[in-house]
Amino acid sequence: MSPETQALLRELTPPNGFAAPGLVDPHTHLLFAGERAEEYVRRAAGVHYQEIAASGGGILSTVRATRQATKDQLVELGLSRLKTMLSFGVTTVEVKTGYGLTLKDELKLLDAIFELRQLQPVEIVATFMPAHAVPPETSADAYIDHVCEEMLPAAKEHPAEPKFVDVFCEKGAFTLAQSRKVFQAAARLGFGLKIHADEFNNLGGSQLAGYWEAVSAEHLLKSDQDDWRMLVEGGVTPVLLPGTAFTLKEPYANARGMIETGLKPAIGTDFNPGSCPIISLPFVMGLAVLYMGLTPDEALAAVTANALQALALPPEHGADDATIWPYPSVAHIAYNMSVARPRFVIKNGQVVCENPV
Ligand code: NIG
Ligand code: FE
Repeated sequence: MSPETQALLRELTPPNGFAAPGLVDPHTHLLFAGERAEEYVRRAAGVHYQEIAASGGGILSTVRATRQATKDQLVELGLSRLKTMLSFGVTTVEVKTGYGLTLKDELKLLDAIFELRQLQPVEIVATFMPAHAVPPETSADAYIDHVCEEMLPAAKEHPAEPKFVDVFCEKGAFTLAQSRKVFQAAARLGFGLKIHADEFNNLGGSQLAGYWEAVSAEHLLKSDQDDWRMLVEGGVTPVLLPGTAFTLKEPYANARGMIETGLKPAIGTDFNPGSCPIISLPFVMGLAVLYMGLTPDEALAAVTANALQALALPPEHGADDATIWPYPSVAHIAYNMSVARPRFVIKNGQVVCENPV
């Protein structure tokens, strides 16, 4: 951190407050149109997420809305959501595509990311995720061929420079063999690899991630110790999403077991219109403390150092990014999770957000 930023922190940190790094949200589906409140209520009443998805709702209903939206509309939506995330202390965010599912619409999402970078201070790491759901107009196998042969090469040339490719390995989405094909094509083009693995069913996604030395494996609600060992061997960072377990009323990922196996889990919001409409990373840190047994310091590491690992960013990334909290300790972020926001957010040594006291 530069001496100027250090001086700024000394000046702004109140006597009963503390400074921390800028937060890093390593897993979001930030760019979508529409909303799914009705589905949310149906799920609350007991209908399963995958049942809704199988009948054309879920991700596909957001795909319909996102295809209809223009790039400018998506930029507008993205701007307002990034402003909210910044107010919760996020200075670097990963954003996945995946609600377009055609070449044109997936590139439209990359266009929106490219533009959002010029318009606001939160740093965006782009992940290309055309294999998020099977588009209704084609078969999974045909679509995966199209993803590998046309979409990934086109994304590689895009000025938004997506760093990663992600695939949803799950019943009703893509099989292990299809996910492997995506990994092969993505690795050949030089993308870093990510996978949505073991969310509802364990299809072997973590094992695939370990074998391919993916950068991260995400969700992992249904993974076991053999999977965690594979992740350790492959140097894969687990990205845990307690807001999704909370919203879907699923058992939480076994963060403690992973830590004991030698992993360093990151935590993200998974912010999206379906499985997790929760946008606050401090709230999700609170869930991790309350329901996954992380200590407050482990939860903070999960959204700073470990989240940088999950984005293959060096530990010194964001050295002049910071958050200043109006609390005496990190425990108070979890304790105050319903309202927790930093007083100031600093990006590259500049105050970019001030929240009311
Ligand atoms: O990470 N699992 C797949 N994708 C998202 C859900 C997206 C949605 O429901 O729209 C997730 O949970
Ligand atoms: Fe996700």
